[in-house]
Amino acid sequence: MMRAQGNGQAMHGHPLRLRQVAVVAVAAASVIGLSACSSGGGGSGGGSGGASAKSTTAPGNAEKGAITWWASPITTSGTDPRTVLISAFEKAHPGITVKLESAPNDTDTNRATLTTQISGGGGPDVYMGDVIWPAQFGAHQLAAPLSQYLPQSYWSTFASGLVGGATYKGQVYGAPFFEDQGFLYYRKDLLNKYNLPVPTTWEEVTADAKKVQAGGDVKYGYVFQGADYEGATCDFMEFLADAGGTVLNSDQTKSTLDSAAADKAMTFEQSLVTGGIAPKASSTFQETQAMNAFSGGDALFLRNWDYAYGQSQSSGSKVIGKVGVAPMPTFQGQPTPGYSNIGGWNLYVNPHSKNIAADLTFIQWMTGSDAQTTLATQFSEIPTNATVRSSADVKGKNPVLAIVSQTKLVPRPAQTPDYPQVSKAIYTAVNGVLAGSAQPKQAISSASTQIDSALSGGL
Ligand code: GLC
Repeated sequence: MMRAQGNGQAMHGHPLRLRQVAVVAVAAASVIGLSACSSGGGGSGGGSGGASAKSTTAPGNAEKGAITWWASPITTSGTDPRTVLISAFEKAHPGITVKLESAPNDTDTNRATLTTQISGGGGPDVYMGDVIWPAQFGAHQLAAPLSQYLPQSYWSTFASGLVGGATYKGQVYGAPFFEDQGFLYYRKDLLNKYNLPVPTTWEEVTADAKKVQAGGDVKYGYVFQGADYEGATCDFMEFLADAGGTVLNSDQTKSTLDSAAADKAMTFEQSLVTGGIAPKASSTFQETQAMNAFSGGDALFLRNWDYAYGQSQSSGSKVIGKVGVAPMPTFQGQPTPGYSNIGGWNLYVNPHSKNIAADLTFIQWMTGSDAQTTLATQFSEIPTNATVRSSADVKGKNPVLAIVSQTKLVPRPAQTPDYPQVSKAIYTAVNGVLAGSAQPKQAISSASTQIDSALSGGL
């Protein structure tokens, strides 16, 4: 099984600016504060003031303070995991209060809003940010280097590969909070009715879809993410890896996108829409629209992340008890299963936070066994904590986690700080093809040119 790799870049050449030096000083003081275990005084006023010269003062007692947590909704309906976790944290650490700032659902809008706030000197104390952010955020001092705050013994509590994925130039910027992977959700009842086994190839997905659609049992065969946003890159990465293609060369300096594999991947994606298997509106579908079609009983297959299982079984869904989950399919002739893209969210600290010790207490709790068990058993997330992830009891309550050992993963090429432009080139191309305004070959070639231009600083 492939795992997310770290960027393998050495620590040298990482210029510590004045602000970072100050943050490091705060960090060192706070780690001492944490291990000395709440000696009493303090409050939260370290007055780091965006890491000004005063910030050599310890940030305060890690058991006291008020912090803000910026996080987008983790699920699209039902009980809100964020408030469940905050209440449990506040019970465990009664001296710290956490105020939730609800972030935009779409990861791109979320990032744009947050980067504006943080580069302006403001923003939340702790934020839940995408796993594709460490390079960009690390390179632009939008996140504090957590590896300078928390010891190796903490980082070794995570499942393998996750900390590497949150690392940029030798520093870990995010504490892995939950992992997402792409899965194929299917209607158990309908596959049974038509005597069909769970498909393992895209060709079988297409054939099954046609049969069940022709029988009048569903409107759509397959629903997925094709809107003009990051999610379309995630889905495309899976088709591309199945077809044997890549986006960048190994040192992430040049596009390798313009290939027969990319053409095969995008032509197949296009055929899902033109062949009537996926909705005409696929070019406007984010996770929520695909989820709603599936939960509403309108689709035979759904591509979505792990939480989709929990969503499909929660109140309001029309497919409770009728859903199965499998690793992604691949193209005929390729080794099964197909590739699942790696997503997920980390917890980051704003370099301007005045409550770093409390931030760290919160982050450690959220990545510890109580919070991780809640996420895994109540919300079908893949926990990042290695012990929780391997617990038989937890797996028994999370059918998605139970098959995680079978998935084959492909990361997005996010170790370059230019990843936002790289991804935009990809999703713009995919979206144009799905919307019918572009053809695969030409869309891929222009995306490839845009990627090269972004990597050479031209965008
Ligand atoms: C999920 C993934 C995230 C990805 C996003 C795209 O939230 O966890 O990594 O960028 O979907 O929509």
